[in-house]
Amino acid sequence: MTLPPLLEAQLESLLHDVHPHELRESSAHLSERYRSGHSTSAPRAATAIDALGYAATRMPATYGAVVQTLSAVHQALPDFAPQSLLDVGSGPGTALWAALAQFPSIADVTALEREPAMRDLGSKLAAFAPDPLRHAQWLDHGLGQAPLKPHDLIIAAYVVGELRPDEAQSQVKALWEAARGVLVVVEPGTPDGFSRIRRLREDLIRAGAQVVAPCPHSQSCPIADGDWCHFAQRIQRTRRHRQLKGADAPFEDEKFSYVAVTRQGVYDRSSRVLRHPQIESGRITLSLCGPDGLTTQVVTRRDPHFKEARKTRWGEVFPPGRK
Ligand SMILES: C[S@@+](CC[C@H](N)C(=O)[O-])C[C@H]1O[C@@H](n2cnc3c(N)ncnc32)[C@H](O)[C@@H]1O
Repeated sequence: MTLPPLLEAQLESLLHDVHPHELRESSAHLSERYRSGHSTSAPRAATAIDALGYAATRMPATYGAVVQTLSAVHQALPDFAPQSLLDVGSGPGTALWAALAQFPSIADVTALEREPAMRDLGSKLAAFAPDPLRHAQWLDHGLGQAPLKPHDLIIAAYVVGELRPDEAQSQVKALWEAARGVLVVVEPGTPDGFSRIRRLREDLIRAGAQVVAPCPHSQSCPIADGDWCHFAQRIQRTRRHRQLKGADAPFEDEKFSYVAVTRQGVYDRSSRVLRHPQIESGRITLSLCGPDGLTTQVVTRRDPHFKEARKTRWGEVFPPGRK
């Protein structure tokens, strides 16, 4: 997974004039705080360098997480073709790019972001993008400071953890009320991130939502205390990304937790793979969350789904439905 070429090229050209040392300092601080998913005193991207630092170091990973999440939504709701998109806590517009890649039906794009430096960067990154991304409307207030208009798809990626818990609960309720089709919340794949997702999921179900993904049911979450439901997205690092992170590996794995909910019936209720499958000779062991809770399924060569099991990855559904 990499950023879309248009976005990558524009980001590179904006980074070209910034001194790497300046960027490294600012992004190291921001990225550490963001990754840890703390819910208090979240860092603020106050300057253009802070915003660029975020885009250079974290945006590829959060983009990848949102892409995987939206692909799971598409698989479960293949007829969902949103016209309007609202991305809250949009940062440099990460989820806008991901949503447009997954749902070409989107014609009307709105981003809500309280930091001017992020809004400015988001607009610059989309300056050469096709419509409707190039002409996205950027709302310049914080969540809760003005009523939200209804939208078909609403995304809150890596922002709920920056709100106080009581604020998170009321803001997600408001997002749900404004979501005509699907609401997606993505958080870091840490125990804290997952516990926020689990709490919000319960609130949303109580408010009448159906879970689209990752859970193939809308019952209470069967994950045991001390464990956490999360997924991973592999991100290929650019040379600049490696330099900024002081890392040699050509890739990184972004861990994330999410929930997507809707008002409509859900098409695919296949079980979801919760860990890397264990592959031994002639035998694959899958940890699954299904309509009947958590199960372990051993698939052997004699099983008609053996070939599919060999290709199934952590985070996908099994047996695979429509992709
Ligand atoms: C970690 S960044 C995530 C950015 C983007 N969604 C992504 O996934 O890459 C969180 C963003 O939410 C914004 N934010 C935090 N609290 C907010 C609030 N109450 N209202 C609007 N934006 C907020 C921050 O300024 C920041 O740009």
